[in-house]
Amino acid sequence: MERLFTNFKEIETDRLLIRELRDIDYIDLYEIFSNEDVVRFQQIPPMPSKEVAKQAVSNFIKGYQQKQKIRRSIIYKDKMIGIVSIHSFNYDEKSVELGFMLNKDNWGLGIMTEAASSVIDYILKETDANIIIAKPRPENIGSIKVCEKIGLKRIGHQEKAIFNFVTEEYDDQLIYQLERNN
Ligand SMILES: CC(C)(COP(=O)(O)OP(=O)(O)OC[C@H]1O[C@@H](n2cnc3c(N)ncnc32)[C@H](O)[C@@H]1OP(=O)(O)O)[C@@H](O)C(=O)NCCC(=O)NCCS
Repeated sequence: MERLFTNFKEIETDRLLIRELRDIDYIDLYEIFSNEDVVRFQQIPPMPSKEVAKQAVSNFIKGYQQKQKIRRSIIYKDKMIGIVSIHSFNYDEKSVELGFMLNKDNWGLGIMTEAASSVIDYILKETDANIIIAKPRPENIGSIKVCEKIGLKRIGHQEKAIFNFVTEEYDDQLIYQLERNN
């Protein structure tokens, strides 16, 4: 799994390029994360400014260099329209967690199904990871549908598992999982 931090190649699909996150992506990142519908199930408020987006990109790039977490940019028609994240590396269990965010202008076109499944294929082919996990909120129908379409199965429902910085309450989350060879 460590290879993802040293040798993560670009992925090309029919419509998309999935590449490393670059400093310049902060403008498109701001467009994505400043939309309240996009962050509705993220336990955070919409991003307030491009300056904050710039800082976020810089932190993401640092997190990659420090081998903690990965953010890859989804490019569609020469524009950065989304992010696939790979985080919560567990080297004993050989598991990683997947997250995804898409610019609202591009919802409903099958883009995240295409992007996330290509990333899963890449992880299974290029690394020894055995388990891929996603944790959508129970109300996040779009995310749940993407998880199911890319082959993850629901294995749990954790009550009051994650702190919501907007409501200041704890939210439930579902556990979806894909196991190699299952
Ligand atoms: C969730 C998200 C990534 C889906 O991306 P997308 O590219 O629009 O998804 P797809 O087009 O690949 O859709 C996959 C399926 O989900 C369905 N779907 C997508 N969004 C939906 C929604 N809001 N409500 C109901 N169904 C939805 C699609 O119709 C499709 O089903 P179908 O093939 O049976 O028609 C996108 O809505 C998003 O970025 N949301 C905000 C961020 C977020 O919640 N991320 C997940 C955190 S766990």
